[in-house]
Amino acid sequence: MKPGLFITVEGIEGVGKSTNMEYVHEALLAAGIQVVLSREPGGTPLGEKIRALLLDHTNERITADTELLLMFAARAQHIAEVIRPALAQGKWVLCDRFTDATYAYQGGGRGIDMARIAALEQWVQGELRPDATLLLDAPVGVGLARAAGRAQQADRFEREQQAFFIKVRQAYLDMASQAPGRYCVIDAAQPLEQVKIQLGEVINRLIKAY
Ligand SMILES: Nc1ncnc2c1ncn2[C@@H]1O[C@H](COP(=O)(O)OP(=O)(O)OP(=O)(O)O)[C@@H](O)[C@H]1O
Ligand SMILES: [Mg+2]
Repeated sequence: MKPGLFITVEGIEGVGKSTNMEYVHEALLAAGIQVVLSREPGGTPLGEKIRALLLDHTNERITADTELLLMFAARAQHIAEVIRPALAQGKWVLCDRFTDATYAYQGGGRGIDMARIAALEQWVQGELRPDATLLLDAPVGVGLARAAGRAQQADRFEREQQAFFIKVRQAYLDMASQAPGRYCVIDAAQPLEQVKIQLGEVINRLIKAY
């Protein structure tokens, strides 16, 4: 059986990843594609427990290395339990954040050596990489203002300063320019309708090329 496509959605807080995941999901379903929706950190019962530890703002003493290793611990479980089996069954996997978020946040934001992240990526993922990555890009102020408008309390990451997110965003843009074939950068500062139109075009291209 032909393996499904692995699509990731990336970007800083509040750019509209979760909002647009639903739209992309519907577009894929309309094309008759079976889709598994997931997110990181999380995606499995164990991974969701790790997510709660990572987002809990009272865990203020988590070191950057602990944070990095917890991300990959959750990811190892997610890959084994959800991602690989789904792809092998020909299903497409649409994931809200994946390893590029680790490069952006723990690498760009926290300053961990990218080579260390690459070593963990190789160990945990083997050859598994996303087939396509949709980067929703917007100025940090736009994303944070949208995130602040939500009802929930700010999580451990959302409490970071603007300077942190500027580094995270730059790391994402650097990855996009290094992997233009895999990345699709979408201007997420536009009105939602425009963002959807552009995402729809990207999805149609992926479906045609599959
Ligand atoms: N293009 C847009 N224009 C205006 N508002 C938007 C747009 N996209 C999303 N929003 C709104 O911004 C808020 C944040 O969106 P969403 O929760 O999807 O972001 P996110 O990228 O998933 O954030 P997080 O990284 O924190 O999970 C939501 O209230 C959503 O309705
Ligand atoms: Mg979200």
